Amino acid sequence: MSEKIYVPPIKIQGIKTKLIPLIRRNVVVDEETLWIEPFMGSGVVGFNVKPKKAIFADKNPYIIDFYEQLKDKKINSYIIRTFLEENGRLLSEKDDEYYYEVRERFNSKHEPLDFLFLNRSCFNGMIRFNKDHKFNVPYGHKPQRFSKAYITKIVNQVKYIEECLSVCDWEFICDSFEKTIGKATEKSFIYCDPPYIGRNVDYYDSWNECDENKLCEALKGSKNKFMLSTWDHNDYRANLYINELWGFCHKITKEHFYHVGAKEENRNAVIEALLINYEPFENSSCISSENVQLKFA
Ligand SMILES: C[S@@+](CC[C@H](N)C(=O)[O-])C[C@H]1O[C@@H](n2cnc3c(N)ncnc32)[C@H](O)[C@@H]1O
Repeated sequence: MSEKIYVPPIKIQGIKTKLIPLIRRNVVVDEETLWIEPFMGSGVVGFNVKPKKAIFADKNPYIIDFYEQLKDKKINSYIIRTFLEENGRLLSEKDDEYYYEVRERFNSKHEPLDFLFLNRSCFNGMIRFNKDHKFNVPYGHKPQRFSKAYITKIVNQVKYIEECLSVCDWEFICDSFEKTIGKATEKSFIYCDPPYIGRNVDYYDSWNECDENKLCEALKGSKNKFMLSTWDHNDYRANLYINELWGFCHKITKEHFYHVGAKEENRNAVIEALLINYEPFENSSCISSENVQLKFA
Protein backbone atom coordinates (compact mmCIF):
# COMPACT_ATOMS: atom_id res chain seq x y z
CA MET A 1 0.00 0.00 0.00
CA SER A 2 1.33 3.45 -0.87
CA GLU A 3 -0.21 6.65 0.35
CA LYS A 4 0.71 10.29 0.13
CA ILE A 5 1.84 12.17 3.19
CA TYR A 6 1.85 15.96 3.12
CA VAL A 7 4.92 17.41 4.79
CA PRO A 8 4.35 20.75 6.57
CA PRO A 9 6.51 23.89 6.19
CA ILE A 10 7.58 24.05 9.86
CA LYS A 11 9.62 21.10 11.10
CA ILE A 12 10.01 19.95 14.69
CA GLN A 13 11.89 17.23 16.54
CA GLY A 14 9.61 14.26 17.19
CA ILE A 15 7.61 14.93 14.00
CA LYS A 16 5.21 12.05 13.36
CA THR A 17 5.44 11.96 9.55
CA LYS A 18 6.29 8.26 9.36
CA LEU A 19 3.45 7.27 11.69
CA ILE A 20 0.76 9.03 9.64
CA PRO A 21 -0.60 5.92 7.83
CA LEU A 22 -1.01 4.07 11.11
CA ILE A 23 -2.59 7.08 12.83
CA ARG A 24 -4.87 7.83 9.89
CA ARG A 25 -6.16 4.24 9.78
CA ASN A 26 -7.05 4.28 13.46
CA VAL A 27 -8.61 7.69 14.13
CA VAL A 28 -12.39 8.09 14.16
CA VAL A 29 -13.27 11.24 12.25
CA ASP A 30 -16.19 12.18 10.01
CA GLU A 31 -17.57 15.42 8.54
CA GLU A 32 -19.11 16.45 11.87
CA THR A 33 -16.10 15.75 14.07
CA LEU A 34 -14.21 18.57 15.72
CA TRP A 35 -10.53 17.53 15.62
CA ILE A 36 -8.66 18.72 18.71
CA GLU A 37 -4.87 18.64 18.65
CA PRO A 38 -3.44 20.27 21.81
CA PHE A 39 0.24 19.57 20.93
CA MET A 40 0.29 20.38 17.23
CA GLY A 41 4.08 20.82 16.78
CA SER A 42 4.53 20.76 13.01
CA GLY A 43 0.82 19.97 12.61
CA VAL A 44 1.66 17.04 10.33
CA VAL A 45 -0.92 14.71 11.91
CA GLY A 46 -4.00 16.92 11.66
CA PHE A 47 -2.90 18.36 8.31
CA ASN A 48 -2.90 14.82 6.89
CA VAL A 49 -6.11 13.67 8.55
CA LYS A 50 -7.59 16.90 7.11
CA PRO A 51 -10.72 17.16 9.27
CA LYS A 52 -13.41 19.67 8.24
CA LYS A 53 -13.31 21.37 11.65
CA ALA A 54 -10.24 21.55 13.87
CA ILE A 55 -8.55 23.28 16.74
CA PHE A 56 -4.78 23.14 16.48
CA ALA A 57 -2.99 24.33 19.60
CA ASP A 58 0.47 24.53 21.05
CA LYS A 59 2.22 26.26 23.92
CA ASN A 60 4.80 27.57 21.44
CA PRO A 61 3.43 30.96 20.27
CA TYR A 62 5.62 31.15 17.15
CA ILE A 63 4.20 28.03 15.55
CA ILE A 64 0.69 29.35 16.16
CA ASP A 65 1.55 32.83 14.91
CA PHE A 66 2.87 31.39 11.63
CA TYR A 67 -0.38 29.52 10.93
CA GLU A 68 -2.64 32.32 12.17
CA GLN A 69 -0.93 34.77 9.82
CA LEU A 70 -1.33 32.29 6.97
CA LYS A 71 -5.01 31.89 7.82
CA ASP A 72 -5.50 35.67 8.06
CA LYS A 73 -3.63 36.06 4.74
CA LYS A 74 -1.06 38.37 6.34
CA ILE A 75 1.50 36.03 4.78
CA ASN A 76 1.03 33.71 1.80
CA SER A 77 3.01 31.41 -0.49
CA TYR A 78 3.99 34.31 -2.76
CA ILE A 79 5.32 36.44 0.12
CA ILE A 80 7.14 33.40 1.48
CA ARG A 81 8.82 32.68 -1.87
CA THR A 82 10.00 36.29 -2.20
CA PHE A 83 11.25 36.36 1.39
CA LEU A 84 13.17 33.08 1.11
CA GLU A 85 14.74 34.09 -2.22
CA GLU A 86 16.00 37.37 -0.78
CA ASN A 87 17.12 35.98 2.59
CA GLY A 88 18.52 32.82 1.01
CA ARG A 89 20.70 35.00 -1.25
CA LEU A 90 21.98 36.90 1.80
CA LEU A 91 22.71 33.60 3.56
CA SER A 92 24.75 32.35 0.61
CA GLU A 93 26.77 35.59 0.65
CA LYS A 94 27.27 36.08 4.38
CA ASP A 95 26.94 32.45 5.64
CA ASP A 96 26.80 32.01 9.44
CA GLU A 97 26.98 35.77 10.04
CA TYR A 98 23.62 36.14 8.32
CA TYR A 99 22.02 33.17 10.11
CA TYR A 100 22.89 34.72 13.49
CA GLU A 101 21.69 38.15 12.31
CA VAL A 102 18.27 36.66 11.51
CA ARG A 103 18.26 34.74 14.80
CA GLU A 104 18.82 37.98 16.69
CA ARG A 105 16.16 39.75 14.62
CA PHE A 106 13.69 36.93 15.35
CA ASN A 107 14.45 37.03 19.07
CA SER A 108 13.56 40.72 19.21
CA LYS A 109 10.66 40.95 16.67
CA HIS A 110 9.27 37.39 16.46
CA GLU A 111 8.29 37.62 12.81
CA PRO A 112 6.88 34.35 11.41
CA LEU A 113 8.91 34.59 8.20
CA ASP A 114 12.12 34.75 10.22
CA PHE A 115 10.88 31.77 12.23
CA LEU A 116 10.41 29.78 9.02
CA PHE A 117 13.83 30.85 7.72
CA LEU A 118 15.55 29.76 10.95
CA ASN A 119 13.61 26.52 11.15
CA ARG A 120 14.79 25.61 7.63
CA SER A 121 18.42 26.68 8.02
CA CYS A 122 19.24 25.80 11.63
CA PHE A 123 20.89 22.60 12.82
CA ASN A 124 18.65 19.59 12.08
CA GLY A 125 15.45 21.65 11.75
CA MET A 126 15.13 21.84 15.51
CA ILE A 127 12.93 24.16 17.54
CA ARG A 128 14.49 24.95 20.90
CA PHE A 129 14.27 27.94 23.24
CA ASN A 130 16.23 28.81 26.36
CA LYS A 131 14.69 29.87 29.67
CA ASP A 132 14.55 33.50 28.46
CA HIS A 133 12.36 32.29 25.56
CA LYS A 134 15.17 32.94 23.07
CA PHE A 135 15.51 30.67 20.04
CA ASN A 136 18.98 29.18 20.51
CA VAL A 137 19.50 26.51 17.85
CA PRO A 138 22.87 26.89 16.09
CA TYR A 139 23.39 27.27 12.34
CA GLY A 140 23.07 24.20 10.10
CA HIS A 141 26.12 25.28 8.06
CA LYS A 142 24.48 25.09 4.67
CA PRO A 143 24.95 28.48 3.01
CA GLN A 144 23.37 27.23 -0.25
CA ARG A 145 20.35 25.93 1.67
CA PHE A 146 17.74 28.00 -0.14
CA SER A 147 18.22 26.71 -3.66
CA LYS A 148 15.45 27.31 -6.17
CA ALA A 149 14.24 23.72 -5.77
CA TYR A 150 14.27 23.91 -1.96
CA ILE A 151 12.27 27.15 -1.94
CA THR A 152 9.74 25.65 -4.36
CA LYS A 153 9.36 22.67 -2.05
CA ILE A 154 8.63 24.93 0.94
CA VAL A 155 6.24 27.05 -1.14
CA ASN A 156 4.34 23.90 -2.19
CA GLN A 157 4.10 22.87 1.45
CA VAL A 158 2.60 26.27 2.25
CA LYS A 159 0.21 26.04 -0.73
CA TYR A 160 -1.16 22.76 0.60
CA ILE A 161 -2.03 24.46 3.90
CA GLU A 162 -3.57 27.41 2.02
CA GLU A 163 -5.77 24.97 0.11
CA CYS A 164 -6.85 23.27 3.35
CA LEU A 165 -7.64 26.64 4.93
CA SER A 166 -9.86 27.55 1.99
CA VAL A 167 -12.12 24.51 2.49
CA CYS A 168 -11.77 23.64 6.18
CA ASP A 169 -12.68 25.47 9.36
CA TRP A 170 -9.39 25.40 11.27
CA GLU A 171 -8.51 27.45 14.32
CA PHE A 172 -4.99 27.92 15.71
CA ILE A 173 -4.57 28.78 19.36
CA CYS A 174 -1.64 29.24 21.70
CA ASP A 175 -2.73 27.60 24.93
CA SER A 176 -1.98 24.89 27.44
CA PHE A 177 -3.32 21.43 26.72
CA GLU A 178 -5.84 21.65 29.61
CA LYS A 179 -7.59 24.65 28.08
CA THR A 180 -7.53 23.16 24.59
CA ILE A 181 -9.05 19.88 25.74
CA GLY A 182 -11.65 21.95 27.61
CA LYS A 183 -12.88 23.21 24.19
CA ALA A 184 -13.95 19.73 23.12
CA THR A 185 -17.61 19.48 22.14
CA GLU A 186 -19.74 16.33 22.28
CA LYS A 187 -18.49 15.15 18.91
CA SER A 188 -14.76 15.70 19.11
CA PHE A 189 -11.76 13.53 18.52
CA ILE A 190 -8.65 14.44 20.52
CA TYR A 191 -5.20 13.55 19.24
CA CYS A 192 -2.38 14.17 21.74
CA ASP A 193 1.34 14.04 21.12
CA PRO A 194 2.92 15.52 24.25
CA PRO A 195 6.67 15.72 24.81
CA TYR A 196 8.06 12.40 26.02
CA ILE A 197 8.90 12.40 29.72
CA GLY A 198 12.58 12.74 30.54
CA ARG A 199 13.66 13.53 26.99
CA ASN A 200 13.14 17.26 26.59
CA VAL A 201 15.00 20.27 27.92
CA ASP A 202 13.30 23.11 26.14
CA TYR A 203 11.27 26.00 27.52
CA TYR A 204 8.13 25.25 25.48
CA ASP A 205 8.68 21.53 25.49
CA SER A 206 9.22 20.43 29.08
CA TRP A 207 7.12 17.63 30.51
CA ASN A 208 6.98 15.79 33.84
CA GLU A 209 4.93 13.26 35.77
CA CYS A 210 2.54 15.91 36.99
CA ASP A 211 1.81 16.98 33.37
CA GLU A 212 1.26 13.36 32.34
CA ASN A 213 -1.20 12.86 35.22
CA LYS A 214 -3.07 16.07 34.38
CA LEU A 215 -3.28 15.06 30.73
CA CYS A 216 -4.72 11.68 31.69
CA GLU A 217 -7.34 13.32 33.92
CA ALA A 218 -8.25 15.88 31.24
CA LEU A 219 -8.72 13.17 28.60
CA LYS A 220 -10.78 10.96 30.90
CA GLY A 221 -12.89 13.97 31.85
CA SER A 222 -13.66 14.98 28.27
CA LYS A 223 -15.62 11.75 27.50
CA ASN A 224 -14.51 11.91 23.87
CA LYS A 225 -12.57 9.41 21.82
CA PHE A 226 -8.87 10.12 21.98
CA MET A 227 -5.54 8.89 20.70
CA LEU A 228 -2.28 9.52 22.53
CA SER A 229 1.15 9.09 20.97
CA THR A 230 3.83 7.97 23.37
CA TRP A 231 6.83 5.67 23.51
CA ASP A 232 6.46 2.06 24.55
CA HIS A 233 10.04 0.87 24.94
CA ASN A 234 13.52 0.93 23.49
CA ASP A 235 16.45 -1.45 23.93
CA TYR A 236 17.10 -0.20 27.45
CA ARG A 237 13.87 0.95 29.05
CA ALA A 238 10.11 0.60 29.00
CA ASN A 239 7.61 3.40 29.53
CA LEU A 240 6.14 2.43 32.90
CA TYR A 241 3.38 5.03 32.67
CA ILE A 242 1.63 2.95 30.02
CA ASN A 243 0.55 0.33 32.53
CA GLU A 244 0.45 2.55 35.58
CA LEU A 245 -1.55 5.43 34.14
CA TRP A 246 -2.95 4.44 30.75
CA GLY A 247 -3.91 0.84 31.54
CA PHE A 248 -7.54 1.50 30.55
CA CYS A 249 -6.46 2.15 26.91
CA HIS A 250 -5.85 -0.15 23.95
CA LYS A 251 -2.35 -0.07 22.58
CA ILE A 252 -1.09 -0.20 18.99
CA THR A 253 2.69 -0.28 18.53
CA LYS A 254 5.16 0.35 15.75
CA GLU A 255 8.93 0.60 15.51
CA HIS A 256 10.19 4.06 14.67
CA PHE A 257 13.68 5.47 14.11
CA TYR A 258 14.61 8.86 15.50
CA HIS A 259 17.57 10.66 13.97
CA VAL A 260 19.61 12.50 16.56
CA GLY A 261 22.35 14.31 14.68
CA ALA A 262 23.46 13.57 11.16
CA LYS A 263 25.23 10.23 11.60
CA GLU A 264 23.75 6.84 10.80
CA GLU A 265 24.89 5.42 14.17
CA ASN A 266 22.76 8.02 15.92
CA ARG A 267 19.57 6.37 14.73
CA ASN A 268 17.68 5.24 17.81
CA ALA A 269 15.00 2.62 17.42
CA VAL A 270 12.00 3.25 19.63
CA ILE A 271 8.79 1.27 19.76
CA GLU A 272 6.12 3.93 19.50
CA ALA A 273 2.70 3.39 21.03
CA LEU A 274 -0.69 4.78 20.09
CA LEU A 275 -3.01 4.58 23.08
CA ILE A 276 -6.71 4.79 22.34
CA ASN A 277 -9.81 4.65 24.54
CA TYR A 278 -11.94 2.71 21.99
CA GLU A 279 -11.71 -0.62 20.20
CA PRO A 280 -8.75 -0.62 17.78
CA PHE A 281 -9.29 -1.34 14.08
CA GLU A 282 -6.06 -3.33 14.01
CA ASN A 283 -3.67 -4.68 16.57
CA SER A 284 0.06 -4.40 16.71
CA SER A 285 0.62 -7.96 15.61
CA CYS A 286 -1.02 -7.39 12.22
CA ILE A 287 0.74 -4.12 11.39
CA SER A 288 2.68 -4.48 8.17
CA SER A 289 5.47 -2.19 7.00
CA GLU A 290 4.17 0.68 4.88
CA ASN A 291 5.36 2.25 1.71
CA VAL A 292 5.04 5.92 2.63
CA GLN A 293 5.38 8.42 -0.20
CA LEU A 294 6.25 11.87 1.11
CA LYS A 295 4.74 14.81 -0.75
CA PHE A 296 6.84 17.98 -0.80
CA ALA A 297 9.44 16.36 1.51
C1 LIG B 1 6.26 16.02 20.30
S1 LIG B 1 5.84 17.67 19.86
C2 LIG B 1 4.45 17.39 18.81
C3 LIG B 1 4.87 16.87 17.46
C4 LIG B 1 3.76 16.81 16.46
N1 LIG B 1 2.78 15.79 16.74
C5 LIG B 1 4.37 16.57 15.07
O1 LIG B 1 4.24 15.45 14.54
O2 LIG B 1 4.99 17.49 14.55
C6 LIG B 1 5.15 18.32 21.32
C7 LIG B 1 4.60 19.73 21.20
O3 LIG B 1 3.91 20.02 22.41
C8 LIG B 1 4.12 21.39 22.75
N2 LIG B 1 3.88 21.50 24.20
C9 LIG B 1 4.72 21.16 25.21
N3 LIG B 1 4.12 21.35 26.41
C10 LIG B 1 2.87 21.79 26.15
C11 LIG B 1 1.75 22.16 26.97
N4 LIG B 1 1.83 22.09 28.30
N5 LIG B 1 0.60 22.57 26.38
C12 LIG B 1 0.53 22.65 25.01
N6 LIG B 1 1.56 22.32 24.18
C13 LIG B 1 2.71 21.89 24.74
C14 LIG B 1 5.53 21.68 22.29
O4 LIG B 1 5.71 23.06 22.03
C15 LIG B 1 5.65 20.82 21.02
O5 LIG B 1 5.34 21.57 19.89
